[in-house]
Amino acid sequence: MIVCSCNVLSDGAVRACLDRGADCPRTPAQVHACLGCSPKCGRCARTIRAIMQTALAEAAHTCATGCATGCSLVKVAPAEADIAA
Ligand code: FES
Repeated sequence: MIVCSCNVLSDGAVRACLDRGADCPRTPAQVHACLGCSPKCGRCARTIRAIMQTALAEAAHTCATGCATGCSLVKVAPAEADIAA
């Protein structure tokens, strides 16, 4: 499914760029950069953010060891938040 009509980015392309270890994108703009483009109208940001949160939660945030201290996506893993509390 195309999630960014300006850049013709699919949900699969967004998910594919999230599996990059310590370099994983943390914002929709970083996803665009990862895919070699830049945001234009911005309408896709909410959808890309939702894909990021779902994919990274399902993958137990694979980049946690590389960027956990500065990565805001750590907050989407409720199991980790429960452990830390
Ligand atoms: S739909 Fe993604 S920048 Fe316009």
